Amino acid sequence: MKVPFVDLNAQYQQIKSEVLPKMESIVERGDFILGDDLAKFEQEFAAYTGVKYGIGVASGTEALHLALLACDIGPGDEVITAPNTFIATVVAITLTGAKPVLVDVEPETYNINPSLITKKVTKRTRAIIPVHLYGRPAAMEEIMALARKHSFKVIEDVAQAHGARLGSKKAGAFGDLACFSFYPAKNLGAYGDGGLVVTDNEALAERVKLLRNYGQKEKNRHIIFGVNSRLDNLQSAILRIKLKYLDDWNNRRRQKAKIYYELFQVAPRLNESQVSLPNPKTGLPAEASARTGGRSGGSAEAEDHIYHIDAILAKDRDKLAEHLKARGVATGIHYPLPVYLQECYANLGYKKGDFPAAEEMASKTLSLPMYPELTREQIEYVVGCVKEFYL
Ligand SMILES: Cc1ncc(COP(=O)(O)O)c(C=O)c1O
Repeated sequence: MKVPFVDLNAQYQQIKSEVLPKMESIVERGDFILGDDLAKFEQEFAAYTGVKYGIGVASGTEALHLALLACDIGPGDEVITAPNTFIATVVAITLTGAKPVLVDVEPETYNINPSLITKKVTKRTRAIIPVHLYGRPAAMEEIMALARKHSFKVIEDVAQAHGARLGSKKAGAFGDLACFSFYPAKNLGAYGDGGLVVTDNEALAERVKLLRNYGQKEKNRHIIFGVNSRLDNLQSAILRIKLKYLDDWNNRRRQKAKIYYELFQVAPRLNESQVSLPNPKTGLPAEASARTGGRSGGSAEAEDHIYHIDAILAKDRDKLAEHLKARGVATGIHYPLPVYLQECYANLGYKKGDFPAAEEMASKTLSLPMYPELTREQIEYVVGCVKEFYL
């Protein structure tokens, strides 16, 4: 059996009859840049997230970069984030000239550990970028409380968590600004690159809007320095179609995660040192279980993971991945090397051993196939192949 890691074609077949005529009409009208569908998508996606303003930009990386610039963050400033994120989060900080400051993650949730943040706050700290890694919301209540106490901005990285919820609010509705990516394989993905910033703050929204379009207030009047970082109208139209299905697709992912979890419990069972399904209580779909996660003083907010990535921690991870590949099962690793151990970030001054939880995770994390159209038979096959490796 072949089990791909994601299957974008299966999704395309479902929406093809809506997508093709829409694209044709846009091409015929020549409505490509800052068009009607962009404006509508910005409103619809902001409303979906529960935030007032949405500004479409060229990518998730650009969303983070422009959100930081909108907060006037630059050289001499420090921005806190997690060491286990995709490199783009840290790249966006570097692009502004500010210094990325890393804080280790909670082993139970893979997200930034709020109890370690205060130690890293200095008088230069201007913002924190919590990352809702894999689609599981970070501890936003604790982070917002710290932001109020220390007066720094919160910019959520929601690139992997479209529609995830923490209590009554969606990921992206907590911070001063929040940044989404529409990279094709995301839960809400375009047919190319794309991104979006949301905020409730009108002045910040206005600044991002200027920054993404050469600082142009009206034609040929450039009131601040800006760049070209616009979300295409064609991509916006596709995203508008897909947004209607996002909740259903997220629910289907949760069902698949539940099937994975249940099948891993069926005998013969693997022990925790072989495969661990991180924090199954809070990660379990539909249960909306209390957010305890082993964190002392954790809030009681229910969280709703949207399983962009379904990751296990696996002993002999690389050999297991090879074993699965040989049996037709594609996997991913998000991410094999923490950002600060990448060559390009040698100048950050961190070294191996600085963030033990992130390093442990990088050595063991393995992402299993996950997409809404995955079948029960495929999941049974994947779990069977994993068990075969260890037993
Ligand atoms: C956590 C995270 N942040 C930022 C990005 C950057 O988004 P993009 O690829 O759209 O620039 C991504 C995804 O690629 C991501 O997963």
